[in-house]
Amino acid sequence: SFSTSPAPHTAARPVERITVFGAGLMGAGIAQVAAANGVKVCMTDVSDAAVENGRAIITKSLTRIARKKSPDDPAAQKQFVDSVFANLTTTTHAKEAVSNPDLVVEAIVENLATKQELFRRLDEIAPTDTIFASNTSSLSIRRIAETSSKARRQRFAGFHAFNPVPQMKLVEIISTDETSPAVTAALLDLCKRMKKVPVQCKDTPGFIVNRLLVPYLLEAIRMVERGDATAEDIDTAMKLGAGLPMGPLELSDFVGLDTLSHIARGWRDERVSTGEIDAQQVAQVQMLERLVEEGNKGRKSGKGFFDYS
Ligand code: CAA
Ligand code: NAD
Repeated sequence: SFSTSPAPHTAARPVERITVFGAGLMGAGIAQVAAANGVKVCMTDVSDAAVENGRAIITKSLTRIARKKSPDDPAAQKQFVDSVFANLTTTTHAKEAVSNPDLVVEAIVENLATKQELFRRLDEIAPTDTIFASNTSSLSIRRIAETSSKARRQRFAGFHAFNPVPQMKLVEIISTDETSPAVTAALLDLCKRMKKVPVQCKDTPGFIVNRLLVPYLLEAIRMVERGDATAEDIDTAMKLGAGLPMGPLELSDFVGLDTLSHIARGWRDERVSTGEIDAQQVAQVQMLERLVEEGNKGRKSGKGFFDYS
């Protein structure tokens, strides 16, 4: 027997072209993995230096993968790296970047007003059927979408990948009350083509992973601040006693101490008064703030709790 029923009208076209805003740790990682899996990617940031930083992150990661794939074959290594870059363009012009993508993934600084302002601008210049997604760690997708039109809000979701994107298998797909099921389906399909494992989440603070991970990282920093144990010993303890690949201080450096500070601040500002987050869990940690003020953002700046220079 055969079915004569038409394709359900909720089906969204597959995501074939994406534009990534932010060429930092996460934007570069998402751009790399999408491009490596046949998606056409445009990566954009505010300055040439930031775009170049993103290209350097991708080159380093691809070179590592290429050396592993073809250990004794420099020509094959180069061919692999070039083949991924063939799917990737870069620009600092937002308007040019959103002329025709199926999807925009935002991975800029973890600040609600900055993200709202970017999407307000993009909503006006991007095609009406382009899906908008944020890679936010901790902010409300509904609030980030607030500055977009009602029609766009149906095409607005969270696409939360993990650092380092080439290695971490998970993506959290976050739907709001307004997100259309077809949009969620298109993002789930994209995850699979990027060889990631998606989970679906409600628009709660930190979704699944960060709701559990961030309070733990902040408490580990408080332990160092109180002198309960050294950063080295806390990390050794959690690696060998809890079976984790990185201890909490090394992981904080890896996430970025500025990003961790932004997450905690966002929760203090937006989620404590609503009762969603317990104030004590996200209380300001002086040691974290001081490190960030001194320019020690963790691994990406060469120094945090540990030295990477
Ligand atoms: N690009 C390409 N390959 C990479 C890579 C990268 N950026 N990083 C690591 N690799 C590869 C290595 O080449 C190596 O490959 P093989 O095993 O095939 O040789 C493999 O990954 C393991 O690397 P290493 O031996 O150098 O190091 P490792 O075994 O310690 O693994 C790690 C590195 C995967 C980063 C591991 O330490 C780990 O899982 N750490 C925890 C990371 C984590 O928790 N991330 C989540 C942070 S929270 C977040 O992202 C959410 C948020 O919103 C803040
Ligand atoms: P990052 O500091 O490495 O990079 C941020 C980039 O955004 C910078 O290159 C900056 O120039 C750019 N940027 C800032 N404002 C911009 C704007 N208006 N338009 C375009 N680009 C702009 O930060 P990151 O670690 O890549 O984090 C980016 C986002 O991803 C944040 O929302 C963060 O919470 C989230 N995230 C981070 C991690 C992590 O472990 N670091 C994991 C998952 C999600």
